[in-house]
Amino acid sequence: MKTEKTITGDVDPDVLDYTVGDDPVLDMDLVKWDCLGTAAHVTMLSEMPITPPVVTKEEAARVRAALAQVVASAQAGGFTIEESDQDVHMAVERRLTETLGDLGKKIHTGRSRNDQVAVDVRLHIKDQLHGLEGEVAALARALVAFGRAHDRVPMVGRTHLQPAMPSSVGSWATGHAEMILDQTANLEAAYQLNDLCPLGSAAGYGVPLPLDRKRTSDLLGFARPLHNVFGASMARGEDEAALLSALAQLMAALSRLAEDMILFSMPEFGYFTLPRAYCTGSSIMPQKYNPDVLELVRSKTAQVLGLATAALSLLHAMPGGYNRDLQDCKGLYMKGLSITRTTLRILAKFVAGMGVDEARLRAGFIPGVFATDVALRKVAAGTPWREAYHQVRDNLEALSAEDPDAAVAAKTHAGAAAGLDWDLYETRISELERLVARRSQDFESKRKELLQS
Ligand code: ARG
Repeated sequence: MKTEKTITGDVDPDVLDYTVGDDPVLDMDLVKWDCLGTAAHVTMLSEMPITPPVVTKEEAARVRAALAQVVASAQAGGFTIEESDQDVHMAVERRLTETLGDLGKKIHTGRSRNDQVAVDVRLHIKDQLHGLEGEVAALARALVAFGRAHDRVPMVGRTHLQPAMPSSVGSWATGHAEMILDQTANLEAAYQLNDLCPLGSAAGYGVPLPLDRKRTSDLLGFARPLHNVFGASMARGEDEAALLSALAQLMAALSRLAEDMILFSMPEFGYFTLPRAYCTGSSIMPQKYNPDVLELVRSKTAQVLGLATAALSLLHAMPGGYNRDLQDCKGLYMKGLSITRTTLRILAKFVAGMGVDEARLRAGFIPGVFATDVALRKVAAGTPWREAYHQVRDNLEALSAEDPDAAVAAKTHAGAAAGLDWDLYETRISELERLVARRSQDFESKRKELLQS
């Protein structure tokens, strides 16, 4: 039988191909994190109170220096993961053994690829979430700036898509901004769940060595270790699924924004204008400027919903402990992150480039839009609400066009068109920006302490 050599034995090539899957490609995004996790593990090994030491402090320093070189060479395109390596973990071990000889063969002491990949994924997710939350803040900023620039411009508020009541462009924009900012609660829950260190759980059952799991967790900047080793092995997949669920909900909010932008920029409405360079044309119809980007936001949202469902489906019938199914979670969360991040960035660009057509917005104020305001004036004059309602409903043809600016200005209570708290948005967005900056600085300084690269 023809077989291929791997670190863990000779394997049938088709079996190798099927089990390795996309890992040699996907794992390239994990090289940096794999090296960081190994740097922490080896540092901890060198501090273990046993004689003779598994690795000495001096050896640990040599391993860290070699790991820093792996990271640098991966950045320069000089590091590849071969199919026979199976994944990043064994590719790095191979490289270290090539450069450090027997010392390279010691790094995997007291560790399994199960806790190793789990820690890589968590470090990667943490780094990505810093970037993503910064992009959420930037989109919210763009929406608030758009709202502020066109604050009191009257815009018909709609329910069932039918004209409903007087509202404003400021209200529309900050409403979407707030809905998106509120999604940071779900992202934060995913962040906290991800901020736990699985290292030292090994294959899911610990090892008979005095590992200091708190030490590796601290070295890597995690909030704390996942305590139970068996639980730590099961937390893989749960972590990615929680992230994907948060991303799916965020994408749903982005998709509703995109849908509004498509609708209100179509010629029949003409409320908003999109830069022509942001639209794409037709190969047959010369007049076309289509909002393809915004349409793709809808389809990408459907994809992220699918990815979240795929992750949960993958988990629900899996027995406890590590199972290879978990490997397939990797591509799911990576794709979800990449789609969500590019969507946040392109939408921020779209919002910043969008214009308003005040005349078209005002033209939307048909007399019916003022019906509720008319009924409320009757209430102010002493008529009970339900009577006032019927008087207006029975005489709809008597309604006439009113001043939309005055109608907007009259809505002064908290959160209404003339009662928007702009300081609140500024505070929320800058708090988010500061949180992201502080977290990414802390994370980066931990990384630099371990790996000078
Ligand atoms: N590439 C594997 C994964 O992502 C690494 C862990 C392999 N562990 C094992 N017991 N086969 O899941």
